[in-house]
Amino acid sequence: MLRKARIAVFVSGSGTNLQALIDSDEIKSGELCLVVSNKADAYALKRAEAAGIRGEVLPSKGTEFDRRALELLESNNIDIVVLAGFLRVLGKEFVDRYENRVINIHPALIPSFCGKGMYGLKVHEAVLERGVRITGATVHYVNEAADGGEIILQRAVEVLPDDTPLTLQRRVMEEAEWKLLPLATELVCKMYLEDK
Ligand code: GRF
Repeated sequence: MLRKARIAVFVSGSGTNLQALIDSDEIKSGELCLVVSNKADAYALKRAEAAGIRGEVLPSKGTEFDRRALELLESNNIDIVVLAGFLRVLGKEFVDRYENRVINIHPALIPSFCGKGMYGLKVHEAVLERGVRITGATVHYVNEAADGGEIILQRAVEVLPDDTPLTLQRRVMEEAEWKLLPLATELVCKMYLEDK
């Protein structure tokens, strides 16, 4: 292979999905080059450091994040952006510039339990409240609508009778998110290189 797609991962929190990308054997068409956080205390930054990946913190407020992030992506020749527990909505300019090159993982089966305000434990609380028996995770392209872009991969996970939001969150991560995100990342990197 002549070259690999250069990947940046955007994070805000603990970064278990980032860890899944770091540990995965699936990603052959891309390399993790940069981790960008909008939170200085995100544990994900420590995971990046431990893996020898450059970490950057950018301000969380206003349009400043998008502007600085675009500069950073360009100066690092980034091809693909993976949102892994990134709790900000990216603006139109950003999304247009990286059209079909930004993906996100959502901890439910889109179009259920998604959209504005549906993130983290809130998703699993809503799943349990509604009483659905199957949930899961979705990797999708990012556009301007929250969780609105084209779906790339999905995986279903059973909801068990005595699940709490925390046990369900953990099972969705273990059985779906941590497997799906590396697979989808490889797919998107491969397609990107083939189209070039
Ligand atoms: C995951 O559930 C992911 O699907 C969602 O935010 C959570 C992030 O967890 N977008 P982590 O930071 O990867 O541990």
